[in-house]
Amino acid sequence: MKTVLITGANRGLGFETARQLGAKGYKVYLGARNEEKGKIAAEILLKLGYNVEFIKLDVTKTSDIRNLHDRLKKNSESIDILINNAGVFLESSGPTDISEASIFKVDPVIILKTIEANTMGPLKLIQSIVPLMMEKNEGRVINVSSQMGALSEMGPFWPGYRMSKTALNALTQIVSAEVENTNISVNSICPGWVRTDMGGENAHRSVEEGVATAVWLATCEEPPKGKFLRDCKVIDW
Ligand SMILES: NC(=O)c1ccc[n+]([C@@H]2O[C@H](COP(=O)([O-])OP(=O)(O)OC[C@H]3O[C@@H](n4cnc5c(N)ncnc54)[C@H](OP(=O)(O)O)[C@@H]3O)[C@@H](O)[C@H]2O)c1
Repeated sequence: MKTVLITGANRGLGFETARQLGAKGYKVYLGARNEEKGKIAAEILLKLGYNVEFIKLDVTKTSDIRNLHDRLKKNSESIDILINNAGVFLESSGPTDISEASIFKVDPVIILKTIEANTMGPLKLIQSIVPLMMEKNEGRVINVSSQMGALSEMGPFWPGYRMSKTALNALTQIVSAEVENTNISVNSICPGWVRTDMGGENAHRSVEEGVATAVWLATCEEPPKGKFLRDCKVIDW
């Protein structure tokens, strides 16, 4: 049975990814920074009969990541698939609200906080878990990025969010290059504009549509390596 760790899985795209992979028989480690919310989310999936375990995981807390690593080592557990999904959008109330989102207005502290969660969190988890995958010469990393971070289509506003996802895409490419001679795939995906707390109610896509590429990368026979994908197709960085 394959195991998957999904960060920020108590709601939104992370929870839907957990639900779909749970339904397919994967063992799901459901990561959430808030213990109460994480346990409630895991309970919903357990009641459906899925193999789900809550893991307290704030991706900005090195101690949480160290605890996870120690636990995996101690119990000889492994993560076959790491889905770096947790993310924040701190510069305005959503992707249609530009009131405070100009690069001339955003507080650099907010930019740093965004990068800490959206980029440094995935980096720390990769540093913790990919070496364990390398011992088995097998694994998959799926970084949930955004087209808002694509340099080929860079636009105005939300500098912190955009830069955090551009840097996440760079991280994808760096790690992918370092593991190129292994059976480990590392990819970025863009879910599209999805109706979650982050995307807002006017977004074009359902959560089911939003997670399709991540679920495909987690489950397909031969995943691509070092790519940026949306709708299961490669897009420009
Ligand atoms: N929705 C869209 O349109 C869209 C588009 C492109 C990319 N994305 C990306 O998709 C991913 C999921 O977004 P979503 O739409 O599902 O957003 P969401 O509904 O706002 O959910 C975000 C999740 O991330 C968690 N989180 C935030 N900071 C965290 C931290 N430091 N440690 C652990 N968990 C943390 C949240 O936990 P709490 O409940 O505790 O806050 C929540 O579970 C994000 O990376 C986002 O950038 C979304």
